[in-house]
Amino acid sequence: SGCTSGRFQEVEKQDFKNVFDLERLSRKVMGDDAIEYLNGGADDLKTVKANLEGYDKIQIRARVLIDVSNISTKVELFGQSLETPIILSPVGFQKFFHQEGEVATAKAAASRKHQMMLSTVSNYSVSEVAAAYGPNLWFQLYPTPDRKITKILLEKAEQAGCPVCVLTVDTPVVGNRETSATTLFKLIDAGELKMGNLDGILPEGMKFTDMTVTWEIIDWLRANCNMKIVIKGIVTREDAALALLHGVDGIIVSNHGGRQLESNRGTIECLPEIVEEVKGRIPVLIDGGIRRGTDIFKALAMGANAVCIGRPFCWGLGALGQEGVEIALDIPKAELIRDMQLAGTPSIEKITGDFVVVQ
Ligand code: FNR
Repeated sequence: SGCTSGRFQEVEKQDFKNVFDLERLSRKVMGDDAIEYLNGGADDLKTVKANLEGYDKIQIRARVLIDVSNISTKVELFGQSLETPIILSPVGFQKFFHQEGEVATAKAAASRKHQMMLSTVSNYSVSEVAAAYGPNLWFQLYPTPDRKITKILLEKAEQAGCPVCVLTVDTPVVGNRETSATTLFKLIDAGELKMGNLDGILPEGMKFTDMTVTWEIIDWLRANCNMKIVIKGIVTREDAALALLHGVDGIIVSNHGGRQLESNRGTIECLPEIVEEVKGRIPVLIDGGIRRGTDIFKALAMGANAVCIGRPFCWGLGALGQEGVEIALDIPKAELIRDMQLAGTPSIEKITGDFVVVQ
């Protein structure tokens, strides 16, 4: 399985010591435009940097002489039992990175037992991806300006068996990404890169984002689907409070990987006020800038119930297809397990606030 053809046939798994090694290979394999689309962000990339640097401001307080021979990374989330708290963030247009796109990602996520979220703007449709992934794929929703279309998307996701709808709320308009992916839009316009969920239902000229959407959408979603509703893109305690008021099932603290508003705080810096507001009533997840097992450990210690990663698995996808995604998932999981052993926390529940200090 995976891409073993051509000049990278000689690549061996042990050549990848960390996810940055995968990024390096992806830069050799993928076109410049795809790399810029994947790694880019808003304006001068201050939010992208804040996501990464936020983790440097936290240090770990390790405990010793604890039996760490048996490490469990299991977590319970939205009625599901997950093998690992490392989830795949929804990333659009994955065929731009590799011809097998979201299907390769789904096969890798399933084989490694990671929860996957599928973007509204995926190239393969939610039913195709669910067929490759198996049960319990989560569907990420961009509400289009027309609720009739949103309703069709929800129906497609429910027919594909998705138990969770992840509503992204940080995208009333697309952020100012100056390294524009010209090729991507040319391919879409030329019909060479299909939008598996939106083609045929999104009228020409209509955007997949909606500038008018407000909190009422949560009530509308409740009335129009049976999925759990998780809100992605919360960065303040005020919005966490409103999300609770509207009865969402979970929150993802996210700034879209720094691709939307410039000068956001790093998500790990946003997390504490949200955790404080939520008080354990619903799960709080986080994404943005997570590259190492220690980043995952810190996020969990700061109160996240699970973490999501975006770009790293796409580096793997671009570099090596399914096999690359598997490597991109194996590396942080192995790092997390070793970090849990070194910090003296044999299970995820044991990773509490006592294990970190913010500088
Ligand atoms: C994204 N992200 C995203 N989010 C979303 O809700 N729907 C989407 O379609 C996309 N598309 C997308 C494309 C690309 C190329 C990237 C890099 C990101 C945001 C994504 O879900 C997640 O929030 C970030 O990627 C997390 O940050 P890291 O891990 O990439 O630093």
